[in-house]
Amino acid sequence: MRVLIAGGTEFISLHLVRALQRDGHRVAVVNRGRQSGRLPAGVETFVADRTDHAALAKALAGQRFDGLVDATYAPTTGEDVAALLDAPAAVEHAVFVSTARVYDHARPIPFDEDTPRNLYWGDYAKNKIAGEDVLLERHRAHGLPVTIVRPTHVYGPLNTRNNETFFFDRLARGRPVLVPGAGGWLRQFGHVEDLADAMAAMLGNRAAFGRAYNVTGEESVSQVGFVEVIADVMKRPLTLVHAPTPSGGTPAPFGQNLTYDCHAVHTTARVRTELGLRPRYTLAAGLAGTLEWYLREGLDKRAIDFGAEDALLRSLGAR
Ligand SMILES: NC(=O)c1ccc[n+]([C@@H]2O[C@H](COP(=O)([O-])OP(=O)(O)OC[C@H]3O[C@@H](n4cnc5c(N)ncnc54)[C@H](OP(=O)(O)O)[C@@H]3O)[C@@H](O)[C@H]2O)c1
Repeated sequence: MRVLIAGGTEFISLHLVRALQRDGHRVAVVNRGRQSGRLPAGVETFVADRTDHAALAKALAGQRFDGLVDATYAPTTGEDVAALLDAPAAVEHAVFVSTARVYDHARPIPFDEDTPRNLYWGDYAKNKIAGEDVLLERHRAHGLPVTIVRPTHVYGPLNTRNNETFFFDRLARGRPVLVPGAGGWLRQFGHVEDLADAMAAMLGNRAAFGRAYNVTGEESVSQVGFVEVIADVMKRPLTLVHAPTPSGGTPAPFGQNLTYDCHAVHTTARVRTELGLRPRYTLAAGLAGTLEWYLREGLDKRAIDFGAEDALLRSLGAR
């Protein structure tokens, strides 16, 4: 297959480039060309800012793709998603990387693909729902084969979100870990290679046409449980310092986007039963590989200002 990926040079989309090449596909990417040195040899590149629809149409004019994967949030509106679908001359199957944050998180867990979508997560949810609806409408009205993928927190090598690396940083330095409140909200993490492999397997698969899938790991852990798994993987002692969140105040720092006050748990039954796709990684195994990448890159030596965190620890009598 000839597959176009919007993105291709960072985290999820770069892993997808690798997975598709491994499976013998011809890969093309469209992005602004800021990090083209990261692309493996043999990848065809188109340069355009996806929010500039005229430039996008010009860059992709006359091109035909067996698959297109929209894996870039720019932030990407429904109009941007439609412009990408319209830019090439032909697309045989379109995959949209949405998010599990489209679900109404006030609903009972676990969330399945029929859980109502709403704007619990604000503009991000609004834009992702609009993007999903563009694909679903093209499927219903014009028979375009489409698939929607809804990942949760994605982790793994090259992660641009400071989540697992946030805790690696503290434990590698023997620092305590602050926890907002009890730290009991449930989270679900999916390994980036499992996500990339799932999307590679979906491309061109008729069973996936017109369908939306949660794609993530099969374990749920509390916020504290996530840090405990990381401490086990690092073989480091763990000191947790619980910090109550003052009413109307800011929660203690806890990863880049893991502090929020609700559970986020999803079932992956649909992708398993309909497509036979299961993740390869347990959370512990995936974090162990991510730690290897973190150490290999020397990220444990990066400069971090712990001043505000130390002040909070002191105010809690923990420093
Ligand atoms: N990370 C998570 O935990 C998570 C969870 C759920 C869903 N998602 C979704 O997964 C997708 C991928 O996320 P990500 O964090 O791996 O990457 P991302 O930051 O959404 O995308 C980075 C890639 O997109 C390109 N890009 C950025 N802005 C662009 C623009 N205006 N026009 C054209 N290309 C542009 C970048 O190259 P240039 O800079 O060279 O343009 C780079 O190749 C997103 O849709 C995101 O919403 C992520």
